[in-house]
Amino acid sequence: MRHTHSCGELTVQHTTLTVDLIGWVHAKRDHGGLLFIDLRDRTGLIQLVIAPQKFPDLVNLHPESVIEVMGTVMLRSTETVNNHLQTGQIEVSVEQAIIHNASDVLPFSLDESRAENVSEETRLTYRYLDLRRPSNYQRLLRRHKIAAAVRNYLNDNGFLEVELPILFKTTPEGAREFLVPSRVNPQQFYALAQSPQQYKQMLMVAGLERYYSIARCFRDEDLRADRQPEFTQIDLEMSFIEAEDIYNLIEGMLRHVWKNVLQKDLALPLKRMRFREAMDRFGSDKPDTRFVLEIQDVTDIFAHSAFKVFADVVATGGVIKAINGKGLTDLTQGELKALEDSAKAMGAKGLAFIRVEESGWKSPISKFFNEEEKVALAKALSMEVGDVVFFAAEKWERACTILGRIRMDCANLLQRRGRLSIDGDRFDLLWIVDFPLLTYDDEIGHYVATHHPFTAPVPEDIGLLDSDPHTVRGQHYDLVMNGVELGGGSIRIHNCDLQRKIFHEILKIPREVVEDRFGYMLRAFRFGAPPHGGIALGLDRLAAMLSATTSIRDVIAFPKTQRGQDLMCQSPSPASQKQLRELHITFK
Ligand code: AMO
Ligand code: AMP
Repeated sequence: MRHTHSCGELTVQHTTLTVDLIGWVHAKRDHGGLLFIDLRDRTGLIQLVIAPQKFPDLVNLHPESVIEVMGTVMLRSTETVNNHLQTGQIEVSVEQAIIHNASDVLPFSLDESRAENVSEETRLTYRYLDLRRPSNYQRLLRRHKIAAAVRNYLNDNGFLEVELPILFKTTPEGAREFLVPSRVNPQQFYALAQSPQQYKQMLMVAGLERYYSIARCFRDEDLRADRQPEFTQIDLEMSFIEAEDIYNLIEGMLRHVWKNVLQKDLALPLKRMRFREAMDRFGSDKPDTRFVLEIQDVTDIFAHSAFKVFADVVATGGVIKAINGKGLTDLTQGELKALEDSAKAMGAKGLAFIRVEESGWKSPISKFFNEEEKVALAKALSMEVGDVVFFAAEKWERACTILGRIRMDCANLLQRRGRLSIDGDRFDLLWIVDFPLLTYDDEIGHYVATHHPFTAPVPEDIGLLDSDPHTVRGQHYDLVMNGVELGGGSIRIHNCDLQRKIFHEILKIPREVVEDRFGYMLRAFRFGAPPHGGIALGLDRLAAMLSATTSIRDVIAFPKTQRGQDLMCQSPSPASQKQLRELHITFK
């Protein structure tokens, strides 16, 4: 037989037609005199009607067996029409059948409505079964459509798709790398590319002007819901441009994706927010702006407070920040303790709070406040009965990030109480700009690049590199959506002397290491390197958010677990002695 139709595509128009269908036994109902099978392929389901005495082999089949049938499309009688099914008005009366593969009993049911009961470990071990679920197929389909829309858009805008090496070179900056020993060069290693950053810059020096690729990247990081050790970037780079050109291009690309994948119009231009403002108001450089709950600065109110903790922090250059968890005075002791633990995990020494109750303020610290301070505080935070206010007294950045975390925790508590609802279809996209080029690392005692060492300083700030490095702004931009960093990029340094100065004098990378790791780049910049810049967007994150899931594992065909394992093929796994010998690796 040669199959003529797809299951989900049959309609009443096909009635009386003889069709040949092939697919999986999705469900089976034995009504004694009649056997019903829902046959499934990737397009959907169709009900088969079978005379059991004619096809005894079909009666005992397990779900997920593969069968092929020939039969006639019939209209269902009105009382048997199933309006929940796309093909619910018809069925196929089977005349011939072949069993291509009788399935064993399944390790778990593929029924979508029972998906919650199956552990992710089991689903990933049998990922090929898990992926048969229509919702998983739909997510891979959506990811495919996003990538296709991106390619179309960039192709139409003069970009060249170029594949860049994955076997790269170890570099001292950035995330931890995966190392690959070279057999032909004993004791030498490649590193799997964390991103095509340096190669794409070399393509600009090579005169390509507009490059993109859908690039696999590898980082040996601790994994989370939005982090995988191998992931995919929509990576691009352009010559002779400014940051504005990147904003325009990416906004146009997103609009194209929204139109083609979601059939929605994306409102442009996207908002922009300075790093400083994002930290001050939301306590994060990837603020979730879908809800209000903003952080306030109350340093001035408590500059001379009788509460020593606050006064001391202000005297030593710190700040006092506060947030009003509106309506959360009904926090349980357990919830309060969890908030305190959150704050401490972000480096807080404590989490002072005030509950605003009918009978007055309940707080371990408000007894230290004078009347003037209380009035000013109540006004600054619009405090009302039912609220609870949290404080962080720390250095600026730490105070911001502590309350940023408390803000997200409060939002979760409010959502759980049904007092805050976030529209699932809402996409809050914004650019975060004006990042500091450098961040001081207390542990190592010098500056590190806030993003990567190739980011160009804002030209008018270059003079401050020696005198006030912390005030130098980088020409970096991040794209944030619903509190997730979707992408980041920058205008790059294309001047050899400035790049060398950043590596050696500012980032304190020893001269010989600079030469060894980046010598080729510095050399390239001496042969007419054009001004250039670019960006990379996390495709997994974009696909996850446009599929309304919080885990990027849901939009990756074969993802790794939290421990970096592929449970299906049991990777990583030991190498053979012979392989190790050839790679000159010995274990003690
Ligand atoms: P960056 O390191 O910010 O920039 O990465 C860009 C985007 O890639 C995604 N991403 C990840 N997604 C899943 N799992 C991970 N482990 C992971 N790490 C990053 C994020 C992030 O915003 N070369 C620069 C870009 C440039 O300057 O052009 C870079 O890699 O969505
Ligand atoms: P203490 O005087 O240390 O007992 O602190 C009184 C209250 O202030 C406690 O609830 C602490 O959790 C809180 N607290 C202490 N240090 C800080 C800080 N730096 N920022 C915010 N709250 C703090």
